Amino acid sequence: MKFNQVYETVGHLPCTEEAQCRVLYDWILEARPKECLELGFLYGKTSCVIAAALHELGAGHLTSIDMEAVRNHKGNPNILDNLGKTGLQAYATPVFSRISYTWELKKLIEKHTVDGRCQPFLDFIFLDGAHLWEPDVCAFYLAMKLLKPGGWFLFDDYMFSIEKSDWWSRAPEMQDKPADYRKESQVERLVTLVVSQHPDVESVVIRDNWAWARKKTDAAVPAGPAVTHLTKTIAWRWLLNKLLPARR
Ligand SMILES: C[S@@+](CC[C@H](N)C(=O)[O-])C[C@H]1O[C@@H](n2cnc3c(N)ncnc32)[C@H](O)[C@@H]1O
Repeated sequence: MKFNQVYETVGHLPCTEEAQCRVLYDWILEARPKECLELGFLYGKTSCVIAAALHELGAGHLTSIDMEAVRNHKGNPNILDNLGKTGLQAYATPVFSRISYTWELKKLIEKHTVDGRCQPFLDFIFLDGAHLWEPDVCAFYLAMKLLKPGGWFLFDDYMFSIEKSDWWSRAPEMQDKPADYRKESQVERLVTLVVSQHPDVESVVIRDNWAWARKKTDAAVPAGPAVTHLTKTIAWRWLLNKLLPARR
């Protein structure tokens, strides 16, 4: 589906502006990611844009995660309505989480763990969610386990801060937060202090308020040590002492 066609249907929805949607659409056509993940879809505007590009390529799939609350939000059509209107349902699967995208990432890691190794399967991850340090640092570390070597991670709103955001600055839960937390550009801090210092990240490029990070093409998939269950060892010792007390 061509960009203008999808934008005619979803363009009026809030969030990512047309120019950014266009960049995203063109990038998908060029990079041809097969498996994509979006963290934060709201009404599914960018989800439809990504799905339209995958449709244009004739291959690929997007999994997109948000909160259950966006199923019915401010009377706007939700992601299911928008995917239905554009006819792109086959290219995108929305997940409405009752907890958080970090909880859904846990489930994905469980599903893709074989013999103690999390097998990465994603080519592209778009993080456009909370824009806050705690959930998004966690989301980054978890999602990196699922990103294939050479895959791309895109961070929305690099210069975001609570104070600069109309919605967040008025949110009741932000009123008692300290000034540094409200003023800080939390996505920029995530990118500078966590993403660019991650041993598996090979490059980070900032363009038009977005940060693009690429995972090293030779990033390993470590198994890590087996988990030692000391409680089981203690239980065995206790049992042996009971059965063979004379030997001690
Ligand atoms: C800016 S909107 C996404 C806009 C969308 N990508 C677009 O441009 O069309 C951010 C979304 O992230 C979601 N979000 C924030 N924190 C979240 C979390 N911890 N788990 C799941 N979704 C979250 C919000 O519910 C909101 O819908």
